[in-house]
Amino acid sequence: SQKWVLMVTAQTPTNIAVIKYWGKRDETLILPVNDSISVTLDPEHLCTTTTVSVSPAFDQDRMWLNGKEISLSGGRFQSCLREIRSRATDVHDKEKGIKITKKDWEKLNVHIASYNNFPTAAGLASSAAGFACLVFALAKLMNANEDHSQLSAIARRGSGSACRSLYGGFVKWIMGKDEKGTDSLAVQLADEKHWDELVIVIAVVSSQQKETSSTTGMRDTVETSLLLQHRAKEVVPKRILKMEEAIKNHDFASFAQLACTDSNQFHAVCLDTCPPIFYMNDTSHRIISLVEKWNRAAGTPQVAYTFDAGPNAVLIARNRETAALLVQKLLFCFPPKSDADLNSFVLGDKSILKDAGVDSLEAIESLP
Ligand code: PMV
Repeated sequence: SQKWVLMVTAQTPTNIAVIKYWGKRDETLILPVNDSISVTLDPEHLCTTTTVSVSPAFDQDRMWLNGKEISLSGGRFQSCLREIRSRATDVHDKEKGIKITKKDWEKLNVHIASYNNFPTAAGLASSAAGFACLVFALAKLMNANEDHSQLSAIARRGSGSACRSLYGGFVKWIMGKDEKGTDSLAVQLADEKHWDELVIVIAVVSSQQKETSSTTGMRDTVETSLLLQHRAKEVVPKRILKMEEAIKNHDFASFAQLACTDSNQFHAVCLDTCPPIFYMNDTSHRIISLVEKWNRAAGTPQVAYTFDAGPNAVLIARNRETAALLVQKLLFCFPPKSDADLNSFVLGDKSILKDAGVDSLEAIESLP
Protein backbone atom coordinates (compact mmCIF):
# COMPACT_ATOMS: atom_id res chain seq x y z
CA SER A 1 0.00 0.00 0.00
CA GLN A 2 1.03 3.62 -0.54
CA LYS A 3 -0.48 4.78 2.75
CA TRP A 4 2.23 4.22 5.32
CA VAL A 5 4.64 6.77 6.78
CA LEU A 6 7.61 5.92 8.99
CA MET A 7 9.00 8.69 11.20
CA VAL A 8 11.94 9.40 13.49
CA THR A 9 12.45 12.50 15.66
CA ALA A 10 15.80 13.50 17.13
CA GLN A 11 17.08 16.42 19.16
CA THR A 12 20.63 17.75 19.03
CA PRO A 13 22.25 20.60 20.96
CA THR A 14 24.63 23.08 19.41
CA ASN A 15 28.30 23.25 20.36
CA ILE A 16 30.66 26.13 21.01
CA ALA A 17 34.32 25.84 20.08
CA VAL A 18 36.91 26.78 22.70
CA ILE A 19 39.72 26.09 20.21
CA LYS A 20 38.33 27.32 16.91
CA TYR A 21 37.97 25.75 13.51
CA TRP A 22 38.58 28.36 10.80
CA GLY A 23 39.82 27.46 7.33
CA LYS A 24 39.36 24.45 5.06
CA ARG A 25 42.06 22.55 3.20
CA ASP A 26 39.33 20.93 1.06
CA GLU A 27 36.09 22.84 0.53
CA THR A 28 33.98 20.05 -0.95
CA LEU A 29 34.86 17.44 1.64
CA ILE A 30 35.02 20.08 4.40
CA LEU A 31 38.45 19.17 5.73
CA PRO A 32 39.87 21.72 8.19
CA VAL A 33 43.37 23.18 8.47
CA ASN A 34 43.54 22.43 12.21
CA ASP A 35 42.00 20.36 15.00
CA SER A 36 39.35 22.05 17.16
CA ILE A 37 37.77 21.46 20.58
CA SER A 38 34.25 22.36 21.65
CA VAL A 39 31.79 22.04 24.45
CA THR A 40 28.32 20.78 23.62
CA LEU A 41 25.53 22.78 25.24
CA ASP A 42 22.74 21.48 27.37
CA PRO A 43 20.12 19.98 25.00
CA GLU A 44 17.30 21.72 26.89
CA HIS A 45 18.23 25.23 25.85
CA LEU A 46 19.86 25.55 22.44
CA CYS A 47 18.96 22.74 20.17
CA THR A 48 17.51 21.60 16.90
CA THR A 49 14.63 19.15 16.76
CA THR A 50 14.29 17.28 13.49
CA THR A 51 11.66 14.84 12.30
CA VAL A 52 12.45 12.76 9.24
CA SER A 53 9.80 10.68 7.57
CA VAL A 54 9.61 8.32 4.64
CA SER A 55 6.62 7.18 2.61
CA PRO A 56 6.06 5.71 -0.85
CA ALA A 57 3.59 8.60 -1.30
CA PHE A 58 6.39 11.22 -1.23
CA ASP A 59 7.41 12.10 -4.79
CA GLN A 60 10.58 14.01 -3.88
CA ASP A 61 12.91 14.80 -0.97
CA ARG A 62 11.69 17.97 0.79
CA MET A 63 12.71 19.97 3.83
CA TRP A 64 11.18 22.64 6.08
CA LEU A 65 13.25 24.79 8.47
CA ASN A 66 11.30 26.57 11.21
CA GLY A 67 8.12 25.90 9.24
CA LYS A 68 9.34 27.31 5.91
CA GLU A 69 10.25 25.08 2.99
CA ILE A 70 13.93 25.33 1.99
CA SER A 71 15.77 23.91 -0.98
CA LEU A 72 17.61 20.60 -0.62
CA SER A 73 19.48 21.06 -3.88
CA GLY A 74 22.68 22.36 -2.22
CA GLY A 75 25.72 20.09 -2.28
CA ARG A 76 25.86 19.86 1.50
CA PHE A 77 22.37 18.41 1.95
CA GLN A 78 22.92 16.13 -1.02
CA SER A 79 26.20 14.78 0.43
CA CYS A 80 24.57 13.98 3.77
CA LEU A 81 21.54 12.33 2.15
CA ARG A 82 23.69 10.34 -0.27
CA GLU A 83 26.12 9.16 2.42
CA ILE A 84 23.35 7.97 4.75
CA ARG A 85 21.32 6.39 1.91
CA SER A 86 24.34 4.39 0.82
CA ARG A 87 24.57 2.97 4.36
CA ALA A 88 20.84 2.20 4.71
CA THR A 89 19.94 -1.36 5.71
CA ASP A 90 16.71 -3.38 5.89
CA VAL A 91 13.97 -2.02 8.13
CA HIS A 92 11.15 -4.23 9.34
CA ASP A 93 8.41 -2.62 11.40
CA LYS A 94 6.33 -5.64 12.39
CA GLU A 95 3.66 -3.60 14.19
CA LYS A 96 2.89 -1.52 11.09
CA GLY A 97 3.63 -4.37 8.71
CA ILE A 98 6.24 -2.32 6.86
CA LYS A 99 9.25 -3.89 5.19
CA ILE A 100 11.89 -1.71 3.51
CA THR A 101 14.89 -3.33 1.92
CA LYS A 102 18.30 -1.82 1.24
CA LYS A 103 17.29 -1.56 -2.44
CA ASP A 104 14.00 0.27 -1.62
CA TRP A 105 15.89 3.10 0.11
CA GLU A 106 17.40 4.16 -3.22
CA LYS A 107 13.92 4.99 -4.56
CA LEU A 108 12.13 6.25 -1.44
CA ASN A 109 11.92 9.99 -0.73
CA VAL A 110 12.14 11.66 2.65
CA HIS A 111 10.48 14.68 4.23
CA ILE A 112 12.47 16.60 6.84
CA ALA A 113 11.08 19.13 9.33
CA SER A 114 13.59 20.96 11.50
CA TYR A 115 13.18 23.58 14.26
CA ASN A 116 15.77 25.66 16.10
CA ASN A 117 14.83 27.03 19.50
CA PHE A 118 17.34 29.89 19.01
CA PRO A 119 18.11 32.49 16.29
CA THR A 120 19.38 30.96 13.05
CA ALA A 121 22.74 32.06 11.53
CA ALA A 122 23.56 34.71 14.14
CA GLY A 123 26.94 33.16 14.83
CA LEU A 124 25.43 30.70 17.26
CA ALA A 125 26.33 27.59 15.31
CA SER A 126 22.78 26.80 14.25
CA SER A 127 24.10 24.79 11.32
CA ALA A 128 26.10 22.66 13.77
CA ALA A 129 23.02 21.45 15.62
CA GLY A 130 21.05 21.28 12.36
CA PHE A 131 23.27 18.98 10.32
CA ALA A 132 24.18 16.80 13.30
CA CYS A 133 20.50 16.28 14.02
CA LEU A 134 19.63 15.65 10.37
CA VAL A 135 22.33 13.01 9.95
CA PHE A 136 21.50 11.32 13.25
CA ALA A 137 17.75 11.19 12.51
CA LEU A 138 18.28 9.90 8.95
CA ALA A 139 20.69 7.23 10.20
CA LYS A 140 18.08 6.02 12.69
CA LEU A 141 15.29 6.07 10.09
CA MET A 142 17.35 4.16 7.52
CA ASN A 143 18.89 1.82 10.08
CA ALA A 144 22.44 2.82 9.11
CA ASN A 145 24.49 1.03 11.71
CA GLU A 146 27.36 3.46 12.07
CA ASP A 147 28.89 4.63 15.35
CA HIS A 148 28.81 8.29 16.40
CA SER A 149 32.31 9.01 15.07
CA GLN A 150 31.37 7.58 11.67
CA LEU A 151 28.20 9.68 11.65
CA SER A 152 30.23 12.73 12.68
CA ALA A 153 32.28 12.40 9.48
CA ILE A 154 29.02 12.50 7.50
CA ALA A 155 27.64 15.48 9.46
CA ARG A 156 30.96 17.22 8.72
CA ARG A 157 29.97 17.24 5.03
CA GLY A 158 26.95 19.37 5.99
CA SER A 159 28.79 21.87 8.17
CA GLY A 160 32.23 21.38 9.65
CA SER A 161 31.29 22.29 13.20
CA ALA A 162 28.31 19.88 13.02
CA CYS A 163 30.60 16.87 13.46
CA ARG A 164 31.26 17.97 17.06
CA SER A 165 27.53 17.95 17.97
CA LEU A 166 27.24 14.16 17.70
CA TYR A 167 28.65 13.93 21.23
CA GLY A 168 27.88 15.68 24.52
CA GLY A 169 30.50 17.09 26.86
CA PHE A 170 33.91 18.08 25.46
CA VAL A 171 34.60 17.05 21.90
CA LYS A 172 37.62 17.15 19.61
CA TRP A 173 37.37 17.29 15.84
CA ILE A 174 40.50 15.56 14.58
CA MET A 175 41.50 17.19 11.28
CA GLY A 176 42.82 13.91 9.87
CA LYS A 177 45.48 13.24 7.24
CA ASP A 178 43.58 11.34 4.57
CA GLU A 179 42.81 13.30 1.39
CA LYS A 180 39.41 11.59 1.17
CA GLY A 181 38.53 12.69 4.69
CA THR A 182 37.79 9.27 6.19
CA ASP A 183 39.80 10.14 9.33
CA SER A 184 38.45 13.68 9.77
CA LEU A 185 35.95 13.04 12.55
CA ALA A 186 34.90 13.86 16.08
CA VAL A 187 35.81 12.04 19.30
CA GLN A 188 34.55 12.66 22.81
CA LEU A 189 37.21 13.93 25.22
CA ALA A 190 35.02 13.92 28.33
CA ASP A 191 31.31 13.41 28.85
CA GLU A 192 28.77 16.01 30.06
CA LYS A 193 29.16 14.99 33.71
CA HIS A 194 32.93 15.43 33.77
CA TRP A 195 32.95 19.19 34.48
CA ASP A 196 29.38 20.06 35.30
CA GLU A 197 30.24 23.02 37.58
CA LEU A 198 30.79 25.14 34.47
CA VAL A 199 27.87 27.41 33.50
CA ILE A 200 27.53 28.83 30.00
CA VAL A 201 25.80 32.17 29.60
CA ILE A 202 25.14 33.50 26.11
CA ALA A 203 24.71 37.26 25.88
CA VAL A 204 22.75 38.12 22.76
CA VAL A 205 24.28 41.33 21.51
CA SER A 206 22.45 41.10 18.20
CA SER A 207 20.17 38.46 16.74
CA GLN A 208 20.68 39.75 13.21
CA GLN A 209 22.04 37.36 10.63
CA LYS A 210 25.79 37.63 10.12
CA GLU A 211 27.16 39.61 7.18
CA THR A 212 29.88 37.21 6.05
CA SER A 213 29.01 33.52 5.97
CA SER A 214 31.60 31.20 7.44
CA THR A 215 32.06 29.59 4.00
CA THR A 216 32.99 32.85 2.25
CA GLY A 217 34.94 34.09 5.24
CA MET A 218 37.05 30.93 5.52
CA ARG A 219 37.74 30.90 1.79
CA ASP A 220 39.02 34.50 1.87
CA THR A 221 41.09 33.81 4.99
CA VAL A 222 42.73 30.70 3.52
CA GLU A 223 43.56 32.60 0.33
CA THR A 224 44.94 35.76 1.93
CA SER A 225 45.96 35.43 5.58
CA LEU A 226 49.54 34.59 6.51
CA LEU A 227 48.51 34.68 10.15
CA LEU A 228 46.19 31.71 9.52
CA GLN A 229 49.09 29.62 8.25
CA HIS A 230 51.12 30.43 11.35
CA ARG A 231 48.10 29.71 13.58
CA ALA A 232 47.32 26.34 11.97
CA LYS A 233 50.94 25.12 11.92
CA GLU A 234 52.53 26.59 15.01
CA VAL A 235 49.83 27.68 17.45
CA VAL A 236 46.82 25.37 17.44
CA PRO A 237 48.61 21.99 17.73
CA LYS A 238 50.21 23.08 21.03
CA ARG A 239 47.01 24.70 22.26
CA ILE A 240 45.00 21.56 21.58
CA LEU A 241 47.29 19.53 23.85
CA LYS A 242 47.12 22.16 26.60
CA MET A 243 43.34 22.41 26.34
CA GLU A 244 42.98 18.63 26.60
CA GLU A 245 45.09 18.75 29.79
CA ALA A 246 43.05 21.65 31.23
CA ILE A 247 39.79 19.81 30.61
CA LYS A 248 41.11 16.57 32.05
CA ASN A 249 42.30 18.33 35.24
CA HIS A 250 39.35 20.74 35.66
CA ASP A 251 41.97 23.49 35.48
CA PHE A 252 39.78 26.56 34.96
CA ALA A 253 42.65 29.07 34.90
CA SER A 254 44.30 27.33 31.93
CA PHE A 255 40.97 26.58 30.29
CA ALA A 256 39.91 30.25 30.39
CA GLN A 257 43.28 31.56 29.29
CA LEU A 258 43.38 29.20 26.29
CA ALA A 259 39.74 29.76 25.27
CA CYS A 260 39.98 33.58 25.42
CA THR A 261 43.32 33.73 23.60
CA ASP A 262 42.08 31.38 20.92
CA SER A 263 38.88 33.36 20.35
CA ASN A 264 40.97 36.52 20.06
CA GLN A 265 43.33 34.90 17.58
CA PHE A 266 40.43 33.68 15.47
CA HIS A 267 39.11 37.26 15.25
CA ALA A 268 42.64 38.51 14.54
CA VAL A 269 42.83 36.06 11.65
CA CYS A 270 39.53 37.49 10.38
CA LEU A 271 41.03 41.00 10.51
CA ASP A 272 44.12 39.69 8.70
CA THR A 273 41.88 38.55 5.84
CA CYS A 274 41.50 40.50 2.59
CA PRO A 275 38.89 41.96 2.63
CA PRO A 276 38.87 42.04 6.46
CA ILE A 277 35.99 40.37 8.29
CA PHE A 278 34.46 42.02 11.37
CA TYR A 279 32.34 39.68 13.44
CA MET A 280 32.52 41.43 16.80
CA ASN A 281 31.05 44.88 17.48
CA ASP A 282 31.59 47.57 20.17
CA THR A 283 29.43 45.71 22.67
CA SER A 284 31.43 42.51 22.12
CA HIS A 285 34.65 44.45 22.77
CA ARG A 286 33.21 46.01 25.91
CA ILE A 287 32.21 42.57 27.21
CA ILE A 288 35.79 41.35 26.63
CA SER A 289 37.17 44.33 28.61
CA LEU A 290 34.74 43.73 31.44
CA VAL A 291 35.70 40.05 31.75
CA GLU A 292 39.44 40.79 31.42
CA LYS A 293 39.26 43.42 34.19
CA TRP A 294 37.24 41.15 36.45
CA ASN A 295 39.60 38.21 35.96
CA ARG A 296 42.62 40.41 36.65
CA ALA A 297 41.08 41.93 39.78
CA ALA A 298 40.10 38.49 41.10
CA GLY A 299 43.68 37.28 40.70
CA THR A 300 42.52 34.12 38.95
CA PRO A 301 40.10 33.71 36.00
CA GLN A 302 36.41 33.61 36.92
CA VAL A 303 34.91 33.70 33.45
CA ALA A 304 36.07 32.73 29.95
CA TYR A 305 34.71 34.38 26.81
CA THR A 306 34.56 33.14 23.28
CA PHE A 307 32.96 34.60 20.12
CA ASP A 308 32.09 32.73 16.94
CA ALA A 309 31.21 34.24 13.56
CA GLY A 310 29.03 36.95 15.13
CA PRO A 311 28.95 39.55 17.93
CA ASN A 312 27.22 37.42 20.58
CA ALA A 313 29.27 36.57 23.66
CA VAL A 314 29.54 33.01 24.90
CA LEU A 315 30.65 33.29 28.51
CA ILE A 316 31.75 30.30 30.54
CA ALA A 317 31.66 30.83 34.30
CA ARG A 318 33.62 28.60 36.68
CA ASN A 319 30.48 27.87 38.71
CA ARG A 320 26.87 28.90 39.26
CA GLU A 321 27.58 31.68 41.81
CA THR A 322 30.05 33.26 39.41
CA ALA A 323 27.52 32.95 36.59
CA ALA A 324 24.90 34.79 38.66
CA LEU A 325 27.42 37.57 39.43
CA LEU A 326 28.32 37.72 35.75
CA VAL A 327 24.69 38.22 34.74
CA GLN A 328 24.37 41.06 37.28
CA LYS A 329 27.48 42.75 35.92
CA LEU A 330 26.36 42.34 32.31
CA LEU A 331 22.90 43.72 32.90
CA PHE A 332 24.32 46.61 34.92
CA CYS A 333 26.66 47.56 32.07
CA PHE A 334 24.14 46.92 29.29
CA PRO A 335 20.79 47.85 30.85
CA PRO A 336 17.88 46.48 28.83
CA LYS A 337 15.21 48.95 27.72
CA SER A 338 12.21 46.66 28.04
CA ASP A 339 11.14 43.30 29.45
CA ALA A 340 11.41 41.85 25.96
CA ASP A 341 14.98 43.15 25.76
CA LEU A 342 15.81 41.62 29.12
CA ASN A 343 14.26 38.33 28.13
CA SER A 344 16.22 38.07 24.90
CA PHE A 345 19.59 39.26 26.26
CA VAL A 346 20.46 36.05 28.03
CA LEU A 347 19.99 32.99 25.89
CA GLY A 348 19.67 29.48 27.25
CA ASP A 349 19.00 28.79 30.91
CA LYS A 350 16.82 31.71 32.07
CA SER A 351 16.83 30.48 35.67
CA ILE A 352 20.22 32.16 36.03
CA LEU A 353 18.38 35.53 35.93
CA LYS A 354 16.40 34.48 39.01
CA ASP A 355 19.58 33.30 40.74
CA ALA A 356 21.12 36.69 40.07
CA GLY A 357 17.98 38.45 41.32
CA VAL A 358 17.71 40.42 38.08
CA ASP A 359 14.66 38.98 36.38
CA SER A 360 12.89 42.34 36.26
CA LEU A 361 13.79 45.83 35.05
CA GLU A 362 13.36 47.35 38.53
CA ALA A 363 15.79 44.82 40.04
CA ILE A 364 18.42 45.87 37.51
CA GLU A 365 17.89 49.55 38.20
CA SER A 366 18.54 48.96 41.91
CA LEU A 367 21.80 47.04 41.37
CA PRO A 368 24.63 48.59 43.40
O1 PMV B 1 30.78 24.91 10.64
P1 PMV B 1 30.77 26.31 10.15
O2 PMV B 1 31.05 26.41 8.71
O3 PMV B 1 29.49 27.02 10.53
O4 PMV B 1 31.97 27.11 10.84
C1 PMV B 1 31.99 27.43 12.19
C2 PMV B 1 33.18 28.23 12.56
C3 PMV B 1 33.21 28.79 13.97
O5 PMV B 1 31.95 28.65 14.59
C4 PMV B 1 33.54 30.26 13.91
C5 PMV B 1 34.28 28.10 14.82
C6 PMV B 1 33.98 26.71 15.27
O6 PMV B 1 34.95 25.96 15.48
O7 PMV B 1 32.81 26.35 15.48
